Amino acid sequence: MAAHPLERRWIVISVLLVTAMGGLIVATASLHGLHPPSNVETIDSTRLHLTPEFAEDHLGVERAKDGTVVVRLVMARYMVHPQEITLPADTPIVLRVASADVLHGLHVPGTNIGTQVVPGYVAEVRTTIRFDSAAKIGTPNADGSVTLPLFCNEYCGLGHQSMWGRVRVTRP
Ligand code: CUA
Repeated sequence: MAAHPLERRWIVISVLLVTAMGGLIVATASLHGLHPPSNVETIDSTRLHLTPEFAEDHLGVERAKDGTVVVRLVMARYMVHPQEITLPADTPIVLRVASADVLHGLHVPGTNIGTQVVPGYVAEVRTTIRFDSAAKIGTPNADGSVTLPLFCNEYCGLGHQSMWGRVRVTRP
């Protein structure tokens, strides 16, 4: 069965379009360091305050022995704990985030930090914040650091808009 030349031309065009769009997705993802959440680690969201990792005293920024910066955050209606964190630029960072109640989203503009925070799971994001990128959209501080906003970007209830924090990015 022979295809009509016009039909054949449209098959070629549609295959090219799909290939181009797929290529764009792959190129954007690799250029911006985007990837789907892949950390499958469960946690009891109702008992976060009793876990060794997400107890109140252990939240915030900690530097591991290998130089990596580890950040632990808890998102709960309608707060991010702690509300302000200070991160060094151009340093490998691991963010570990847990929800104490419902689905939240963590987003820091100007970085590739963006993940759903699903109750019952630990969301993990690995990133390195480039100071130049942060400086483009952040608010400059007197000490030379830059402050980026941090938002919840999943609608989580009537107080959703008040779930925000600050990330102070310091020069390396
Ligand atoms: Cu938490 Cu919206």
